[in-house]
Amino acid sequence: MKAISVIPGDPDSLRLADFKEPRAEEGSVLVEALAVGLCATDREVIDGGHGEAPEGHRELVLGHENLGRVREAPAESGLEPGDLVVGIVRSPDPEPCAACAAGEFDMCLNGGYREHGIMAMDGFARQLWRAEPDELVRLDPELEPVGVLLEPATVIAKAWEQIEEIGRRAFFEPKVAAVTGAGPVGLLAAYFGIRRGLEVHVFDLEEGVKADLVRDLGGIFHTETLPESGLEPDVLIECTGVPSVVLHAVSAAGRNSITCLAGVSDGGEEVPVDVGALNKEMVLGNAVVFGTVNANRRHYLQAVEAFTGGNTAWLRRLITRTVPLSDWRKAFEPQEDDIKVVIDFSAG
Ligand code: BGC
Repeated sequence: MKAISVIPGDPDSLRLADFKEPRAEEGSVLVEALAVGLCATDREVIDGGHGEAPEGHRELVLGHENLGRVREAPAESGLEPGDLVVGIVRSPDPEPCAACAAGEFDMCLNGGYREHGIMAMDGFARQLWRAEPDELVRLDPELEPVGVLLEPATVIAKAWEQIEEIGRRAFFEPKVAAVTGAGPVGLLAAYFGIRRGLEVHVFDLEEGVKADLVRDLGGIFHTETLPESGLEPDVLIECTGVPSVVLHAVSAAGRNSITCLAGVSDGGEEVPVDVGALNKEMVLGNAVVFGTVNANRRHYLQAVEAFTGGNTAWLRRLITRTVPLSDWRKAFEPQEDDIKVVIDFSAG
């Protein structure tokens, strides 16, 4: 069986190689890979800045954004051969903390969680993989063209869920949302905002395919910065992790606003901040800023709901390049106007 792997910490180790078929201990459901999506986290793992191989191994099979088809499933699993499934990325730490034990492994308290293709568990960029039934989410066949986008959508489903939870602290009737960054996560954040009936503004650097996607969704696209726009949104979702943009998102908040930080930064870049002025604005404006990462099973189901009967024609346009497994290396060479690049395992 072919798999795409890396040696974590070694930036020259990315390869496609023959691997052993998944071990029975990895789960009772055997899945054939259909597709794997790539994102900035994969880039970090490949560049050696993030990631860990499974215990006792040197190599880590890459891939966390995924779509597969069940080949074998136990009778009591609720799944059948042929079912379309997405594997849940994170697993609780082996000795679960209180949050993991409560099924909220996305809120793991001790950092002992594992993530497929990222942290101590082989990923989905292999022709066959295994999982337990509760680590899989079933999709209806009509979602096959967009199913590989489900995992990044779960991260955003969680972000919106948390925004609404925080909103319940007091009177909250959001009308205007701003999203910084029109990459796949930012565009999905806009998709969820439009579904909630909000006026959605998306900020990015240049006109182009992403701007068209925002407008076709019914959103407003800006190439100016958030402070330049003068907008005071009720909800902000920061998806770039770029320090100056993070600061804009934190400082542009309107009264009673909620700012969600969803982009991971590298660190090491300093941006001058008038902490006193920022503090005054946040305190007098009842502002909330919070961070979010990953997603638990509930968020996978929320994402399935947002895709089912949704604007799948628009979602499909986020996949700007599909590369067959035989040409896998090309998927890792960035091209202008790439939004989501997907490796097609179904042909290989
Ligand atoms: C994935 C998350 C994961 C995070 C940190 C993201 O790209 O979508 O599931 O928790 O990286 O490893």
